[in-house]
Amino acid sequence: MNRKKLKFAVIGCGRVSSNHLKALTSGKIDGELVAICDIDEKKARAKSEEFKVPYYLDYHDMMEKHQEIDVVDVATPTGYHARHVIDVSRHGKHIVVEKPMALRVEDCDAMIKACADHKCRLFVVKQNRFNPAVVSARKALESGRFGKMVMGTVRVRWKRMQSYYEQDNWHGTWELDGGVMSQQASHHLDLLQWFMGPIESMYCVTATRLMNIPVEDTSVACFNFKSGALGAYEATVASRPEDLEGSLSLLGEKGTVIIGGHAVNKILYWKFNEEHPDDVHMQSASSQEVPNVYGHGHTPYLANVIDAIMNNKPGLVEAPEGRKNIEILTALYESAALGGQKVYPGYPVKKSMLGRKE
Ligand SMILES: NC(=O)c1ccc[n+]([C@@H]2O[C@H](COP(=O)([O-])OP(=O)(O)OC[C@H]3O[C@@H](n4cnc5c(N)ncnc54)[C@H](O)[C@@H]3O)[C@@H](O)[C@H]2O)c1
Repeated sequence: MNRKKLKFAVIGCGRVSSNHLKALTSGKIDGELVAICDIDEKKARAKSEEFKVPYYLDYHDMMEKHQEIDVVDVATPTGYHARHVIDVSRHGKHIVVEKPMALRVEDCDAMIKACADHKCRLFVVKQNRFNPAVVSARKALESGRFGKMVMGTVRVRWKRMQSYYEQDNWHGTWELDGGVMSQQASHHLDLLQWFMGPIESMYCVTATRLMNIPVEDTSVACFNFKSGALGAYEATVASRPEDLEGSLSLLGEKGTVIIGGHAVNKILYWKFNEEHPDDVHMQSASSQEVPNVYGHGHTPYLANVIDAIMNNKPGLVEAPEGRKNIEILTALYESAALGGQKVYPGYPVKKSMLGRKE
């Protein structure tokens, strides 16, 4: 007997869409791709031919013609997420939105309300949480192996050239994207708070060193967590001559884990005072090669969404988790706009530009 599969549509056929489309046509998860949409016909047609599904130029048209859709993945530019999610929620289907969830906390709240009003669930993509190395570290954390946490560090050292910002009209703008902090490092900031717990306060400074863009290409921040532990963050897209790392270090009183690689995909160090039999294999068993900095996480991420919907249980990254990330991001931008002043999650945004017209 065929297992029941949830029927998916994808809105936005740009770069990240391939990760959704491949996962949904892989046969590895209980999801099935039924339609795709992009306002750019060339892109929509190319993906339609590659993945053998009909394409649409207007998502309302797609939703009306495909009443069978259960879940819609929104993979459009970040500054449009709120508008597109709120719009799609009117069709009463569950929604997966790419990271970052939006650019303003009030937009996240409007998205959450719209989905609640239309009785649909809203999930936010954070596929790095599903990397085997990250899953293993999380299990170690949950079983108390680190003891009292001392410090968490995330580092993003990636290479983007000016051409990356010139290929469309949204990357590197305040209105639709933000800089390295919101575009590339939102994943790593999510991992930092997921592992280290609630943030008490933070400080951030930013710079634009090599790119000709209005937003930052480089930023550093430090965190005081409510637990008393400290956090360090640095991110740049001005790493030369190549991508160097996307990493997470976790230091506790009873052990340390360092996950590196380009996409938080390889265990570089795994040692605890109290050894477990599996520890010797951890480096090889939980590390993976990745084709690019997006990694392989979209397939297990979507599997988690499907399981949550089918079995009516919580997903790992639903809207409140996505909103937390935006609260942190907007506070960091505010701190940078105030010259590195101390801020806290929920700090009133007055000076920072994220999500605003330049
Ligand atoms: N999870 C990840 O690792 C990851 C990686 C890259 C990008 N992203 C996120 O995914 C989103 C998209 O990024 P991208 O790099 O794929 O961008 P992109 O510019 O390559 O693709 C976005 C697509 O959305 C389309 N679009 C815009 N408005 C539309 C509308 N009204 N209806 C239908 N289609 C519309 C555009 O034509 C474009 O093809 C961003 O939020 C980005 O931050 C996530």
